[in-house]
Amino acid sequence: MKLKRVNILIIIIICSFFNVKAQVVGANGKLLAPTPPMGWMTWNFFGENINEQIIKEMADAIYANGMVKAGYHYIMIDDGWQGGRDNKNNIIPDAKKFPSGIKALADYLHNKGMKLGIYSDAANLTCAGYTASLHFEEQDAKTFAAWGIDYLKYDYCNAPSDSVTAKTRYKKMNDALRKSGRDIVFSICEWGERYPAKWANKVGGQLWRTTEDIRDSWKSLIHIINKNAILNNYAGPGHWNDPDMLIVGLNGNKGPAGDLGGTGCTLTEYKTNMSLWCLMASPLIATNDVRNMNNDTKEILLNEELIAVNQDALGIQAESKITTDSVDVFIKPLEEKKYAIGILNKTDREIKYILNFTDIGINEKMKIKDLWLHKNINEAKNIETNIAAHETKVYKLSKN
Ligand code: GLA
Repeated sequence: MKLKRVNILIIIIICSFFNVKAQVVGANGKLLAPTPPMGWMTWNFFGENINEQIIKEMADAIYANGMVKAGYHYIMIDDGWQGGRDNKNNIIPDAKKFPSGIKALADYLHNKGMKLGIYSDAANLTCAGYTASLHFEEQDAKTFAAWGIDYLKYDYCNAPSDSVTAKTRYKKMNDALRKSGRDIVFSICEWGERYPAKWANKVGGQLWRTTEDIRDSWKSLIHIINKNAILNNYAGPGHWNDPDMLIVGLNGNKGPAGDLGGTGCTLTEYKTNMSLWCLMASPLIATNDVRNMNNDTKEILLNEELIAVNQDALGIQAESKITTDSVDVFIKPLEEKKYAIGILNKTDREIKYILNFTDIGINEKMKIKDLWLHKNINEAKNIETNIAAHETKVYKLSKN
């Protein structure tokens, strides 16, 4: 009898570790990250060269240019903020980069209705070689909470490659965050190497990177789309696949995402970046210089109709329903029996394409709106269109 009880206990522990969904609910009783998080992150434009002035400038810009109003609430400090530990082992910021401290920055953002994210790593050192959180999980989570941090990106450089260790280390930090007294969104960043879609939510993550770091090139973009698109069944409110930051507006900038020395992407390709991230219910985390955006970049990042697709409350990641050598057709069910449809031209030439709605499971005439042209098209049972090389057409279909 005694043995039986022990067995049951072991089964419960194993189940709670590996099988049960850990939907995290915040202090207000609501799910953390009910829709994909939106914001701006330091990494791909500034790398390690960050400081409080830059971050305030970004916050001011993102506030003034309408991005906050459009939903981009988070400013995320990526790697390079750390200044080691004090004599009580509290993690501290680099005093030269952040002379006023992180709490002052969080207060600054909160006063604008914005949120602050920070970065650490499940080892002794981060990817760029700064102090990280292994063995200090509870202490660091408490420090982050005391500073007013709202989001933690937790990286996996310098950690053992096996998945049991990864799951254990991520769960440890999640438990620490949940005990910290503050609602902190937990972003798991092990680059998709241990198939995190299958376990990251169970150890407490609201989002998990599904791929290696994105680069500012078409080759990287299409590779990442292919990897992330097949994971659609794993996403939903409070648990999202994260195919890394938007590269929109980097325009060949030689930051970490430009390390291939390329010229960046074309405008059409940046639009495909935004289209697919919206269809795939991906976090929308810009990383360009939001202080100096040209009109094209603004038009992409501030496409409110596409953002509404991304933020739709059903939280369904688009499914790729048709794949040919030249196109992928995605369908994302939306609230009120509406749909967003994406047709991606993967080829290097313009093509003509006819999409019959019956081929994607829609058997009625639908009203159609082009979400890039912001124009209604006649009601129909199909769409016939020319699609430029690497372009994605996005439509919203509704019955009325
Ligand atoms: C890793 C992550 C990147 C970035 C850097 C910082 O490469 O995947 O997104 O956070 O580390 O060093």
